[in-house]
Amino acid sequence: MCGIVGYVGYRHVLPILLDGLRRLEYRGYDSAGVAWLQDGSLHRVRCEGKLDNLARLLNGLQDVPSSIGIGHTRWATHGEPSEANAHPHTDCTGSLVVVHNGIIENCYSLRRQLQREGHIFKSETDTEVLAHLIERYMDGDLVQAVRDALMEVEGSFALGVLWQQDPDILVAARRQSPLVLGSTEDEGFLASDIPALLPYTRDVVFLDDGEMAVLSRDRIEISRIDSGRTIIKGPQTISWDASMAEKAGYRHFMLKEIYEQPQAVLNTYRGRIVPDIGEVSLAEVEIGLSPQVIRGLKRIVLLACGTSWHAGLVARYWIERWVGLPVEVDLASEFRYRHLLVDKTVLTIPISQSGETADTLAGLRKAKELASPVISICNVVGSTITRESDGTIYTHAGPEIGVASTKAFTSQMAALYVLALYLGQIRGRLSRTDLRGKLSALVDVPEMLENGLESWHERAKELADTFYTCSDFLYIGRNINFPIALEGALKLKEISYIHAEGYAAGEMKHGPIALIDRDMPVVAIVPQDHVYEKMLSNVEEVRTRRGIVIALGIDGDRGLARVAQHVISVPQPRDPDVNPFLYTVPLQLLAYEIALAKGCDVDQPRNLAKSVTVE
Ligand code: F6R
Repeated sequence: MCGIVGYVGYRHVLPILLDGLRRLEYRGYDSAGVAWLQDGSLHRVRCEGKLDNLARLLNGLQDVPSSIGIGHTRWATHGEPSEANAHPHTDCTGSLVVVHNGIIENCYSLRRQLQREGHIFKSETDTEVLAHLIERYMDGDLVQAVRDALMEVEGSFALGVLWQQDPDILVAARRQSPLVLGSTEDEGFLASDIPALLPYTRDVVFLDDGEMAVLSRDRIEISRIDSGRTIIKGPQTISWDASMAEKAGYRHFMLKEIYEQPQAVLNTYRGRIVPDIGEVSLAEVEIGLSPQVIRGLKRIVLLACGTSWHAGLVARYWIERWVGLPVEVDLASEFRYRHLLVDKTVLTIPISQSGETADTLAGLRKAKELASPVISICNVVGSTITRESDGTIYTHAGPEIGVASTKAFTSQMAALYVLALYLGQIRGRLSRTDLRGKLSALVDVPEMLENGLESWHERAKELADTFYTCSDFLYIGRNINFPIALEGALKLKEISYIHAEGYAAGEMKHGPIALIDRDMPVVAIVPQDHVYEKMLSNVEEVRTRRGIVIALGIDGDRGLARVAQHVISVPQPRDPDVNPFLYTVPLQLLAYEIALAKGCDVDQPRNLAKSVTVE
């Protein structure tokens, strides 16, 4: 978490830094700061709170004659959000500044050593240790001093360093935290994520773990931190453009991204399926996952955090039926510390929007150590998880900026749906007719979402008006829609701060039914599928106990309308296997409208950050 940016070139640096930070604000927003070189000396402005506060402080400084600087937007790990703890941090001389994303794990022992040596600390952060450590090794050569300092550091970092005495370069380095570099003919950029670079360049280079870079106006030089060995890397061209990372007239990124879902789902399956013939082709995974390996598989492990984990939970139902293999869906933070029974016959599928989530990455590495083939589902091209996987199925959702994941989730489900069919096809478990049916059902989804969006949105506004003051919600669903209940509850709690729990409806009698009263709405997912009658009974049980039910069910379901006080209508697909797509979107809109009614900051909920690159 945290966003870092850096620029060296010929333009006024402050607008570029501020613009880059704005595009990274989803990564952290409790404090921010910038530093730049002007007339041979270093200047620094920092403040607590969101970037608007920093922008106010920088008002009038847009044209300062400087074309080199670094900036940071913070998500606190060590030390509360405050001006003193905001980056950039300086050494004792005040001539060197550092911005950092990650966690320095041995910061306390390093800090004690450095204090004993006479260094004076001005913040509670782990990052300040880096500035003093570089100062300790400084002998006129910034690059060497950074190299020496980093050899002492345990933990994760993506950092940018600027030194007054070497006014034409920025030094960047990375271990376990993302860092992307960009360049034009006479400019160099560094950033935590691609959107910060998009207005200037689409040719980017991803730093790998253990690498550092020196950026100057006309070149980027990359080397290994430990050995100093030069690394030659060509740029990768990103297909996203800057407008894709902007709000396009929507009030919030989250709303824009909810409305982009028909396109995101379509983009994800397009080019990978031929519904008329009943065929799936995933050329991108064939090298890492040959048909022979697929036929020899004994188990599949899906690995993810948060919303991406919910996508994995949905996929389990598809994979078990279509591929005929046992499936485990694990929270990456748990998986990485378990005694793993994984080997080369177990396919591991990490699922991650950002491709940088620390736990998912650690789980991936453990699975690889145990010889498991790894095929990831990811949205960000070139991200660490994709680089370390044997193959990646990219979700083509475009940049997701809203902190609450929406279009990434539905496109992850689309990728997993296609992958499950592919595995079933190779293992000979699905006939052409089966494949044709499942693929046609998927192809219907974008239009069904498109047609539903406006009416779901209107309904969500009405319901939000009635329910935004409630302090607890229960979400229930069964079978493939149980994970959608979990996801609906997560969306509500993260953006509205209302306590919400998702439950398998069959579990109601084992505890949660005790909670039912007039004050707690129960959101029930009741499509007409093979567990419809069971869900109806659950809804009845809630009603009998004077509970309030907001039910999602198919258009014109009279049985449901009789038992639920409030209904959100969803169309009936040709195959209930695509219901998770259809039932997700109204729940996202409900959460969005409730959060809005409560006056919450939808795109940047408190305490959260988009990309969780620390454990
Ligand atoms: C919730 C949300 C998070 C992420 C989780 C994993 O709306 O966005 O729960 O899903 O942090 O992130 P990725 O998918 O980037 O690994």
